[in-house]
Amino acid sequence: MCGIIGCVSEKDCYGALYDGLKRLEYRGYDSAGIAVLGEKLEIFKKKGGVANLSAFYARGGTGIGHTRWATHGAPSDTNAHPHRAGKIALVHNGIVENYASLKEELEEEGERFRSETDSEVLAKLVARAYRGDLLAAVREALSRAEGSYAVAVIAEDRPGELVAAKYKSPLVAGKGAAGLFVCSDVPALAGAADYIAQAEDGEFVRIAGGEIFFYDKELRPLPKTFFRPQRELCALSVAGGGYFMRAEIGEIPRALRDTLGLLKQTDFAPCARVLRGAKRVFAVACGTAYHSALVFADVAEREAGVPVICHTAGEFRYRPPLIGEGELLIAVSQSGETADTLEAARLAKARGAYVVAVTNIGCSSLAALADFCIVMGAGAEIAVAATKSYNCQLLCLYYLAAQLLFFKEQRYPDWFYALDDLCSAAERAFSCFAEADALADGLKSARAIYYLGRGLDLCTAKEGALKVKEIACVFAEGYPAGELKHGSLALVEEGFPVVCVSTSRALAKKSENALAEVKSRGGFCALFSQYGDVLEDSCADFKCLLPALPEALMPAVSVIPLQYFAYKMCIERGFDPDKPRNLAKSVTVE
Ligand code: G6P
Repeated sequence: MCGIIGCVSEKDCYGALYDGLKRLEYRGYDSAGIAVLGEKLEIFKKKGGVANLSAFYARGGTGIGHTRWATHGAPSDTNAHPHRAGKIALVHNGIVENYASLKEELEEEGERFRSETDSEVLAKLVARAYRGDLLAAVREALSRAEGSYAVAVIAEDRPGELVAAKYKSPLVAGKGAAGLFVCSDVPALAGAADYIAQAEDGEFVRIAGGEIFFYDKELRPLPKTFFRPQRELCALSVAGGGYFMRAEIGEIPRALRDTLGLLKQTDFAPCARVLRGAKRVFAVACGTAYHSALVFADVAEREAGVPVICHTAGEFRYRPPLIGEGELLIAVSQSGETADTLEAARLAKARGAYVVAVTNIGCSSLAALADFCIVMGAGAEIAVAATKSYNCQLLCLYYLAAQLLFFKEQRYPDWFYALDDLCSAAERAFSCFAEADALADGLKSARAIYYLGRGLDLCTAKEGALKVKEIACVFAEGYPAGELKHGSLALVEEGFPVVCVSTSRALAKKSENALAEVKSRGGFCALFSQYGDVLEDSCADFKCLLPALPEALMPAVSVIPLQYFAYKMCIERGFDPDKPRNLAKSVTVE
């Protein structure tokens, strides 16, 4: 999703902006641009990769840069940011929801627009309000905008000055040897900023006179504490080259170990009353994180007897809001910046509910908003498709489900102490990769794949299907094994591939029935189970033995060969696993 960066430096800022944009690439984008203010204001922007900008250089210490993920207007050189209006250059992340009416009004007053973007409207509004005071002009312009924004703005006649503002899109400020920065996220400031501070909704940041100032919405100065960013969030390179996604799968055992360490230090007492008293629990998230919320719902209901209502965050927001006082919302988000998840959490808070966040980024907007935050130790996750953060989310949510039971009944579930074994089980799951290689080789030309499961295995099936869809661009559906004959079986014909996850002894026979239905129509079956006898007795064509664990914990491990299989399918099919088509790492607009 769009990323913004701004820099004011005593030296030339072009290099710092270019490097920052390279670090923003992981968020997903389709065009990029830079504006540098030296003797004059120069802008260079191009459809395609940040590398295209290396054909350009301008001297000057003040500048802004942008990676654009198209929302309003196709990816093109003209729609790319920065947008220029009068003396102003502006970059924007977010959506100006009332841009059409603002644009119409401005056109009636004689303004001519070059791009199809909503963002150019903001540039025009700032330019019209600008009379030498950039901060005041940005504030005046943004008072007209509805929707979400993080903007960075410079003015041709104000070298050394940059103004940024935020509402519902992430923004941090940072200080480092190369200069003073504003940026969309902390990982993108890795190596550039030694200290960072987070902007909150409605706040303004001004860099001037070699200092960073924060202001509230009335432009009253705000004191801010700068802190050192989590070191592990700044590791943005893959040792020995290769793809981030592959490296991140390889890091799962380490990420689980670090997350367990953090969980053991987390004091859950502040939310004990809510966990003990919660009559109903809601869980919301998007994408991969939603699948971890599904696992939580199943485990918490089963273990603590608390009904958990689980929704994708985008759906939750627009349903009649059932949540209320004394109830609990669990919001799960790797980035802590996903717009729908944030809004769902805001809605729950506004209705008096207690919000627990599970996130990888301790300084994210979700963490700041939550009443209680569980921070996982996955470290920076750069590949767009989530892998290690999913396993860590599950670990955090198992822990939370265990606390739910503990605060109610002063006991932990049977599997609680087996959480210590997750890390070594994840390592053992790597021995399935050779089989996953063979499976990918056989299925690389498949046009569609069904993933089947029952109970907790259904969550794994859904996540496995999402992975292969996201990065290998193969249609896939995660489906309840028992539902196959109620519709999806119609597509099964000679060679149609079906992957089944079957890690529950009680449900194994039922899942096997589904495979028999597939086989008798000529389909190809692949089975993953932790039980040797389940594999032996199966009619599946391909069998893979998973490491053994208590069944409740299997989702954190059985997904690993499926994550790797998706990666391998992607490579076999010639796609880039780190930058899937049309997708962004952090979806900061609705
Ligand atoms: C995007 C990413 C997914 C991710 C989802 C939720 O769609 O492409 O990989 O699962 O956002 O992200 P979050 O940061 O909230 O976990």
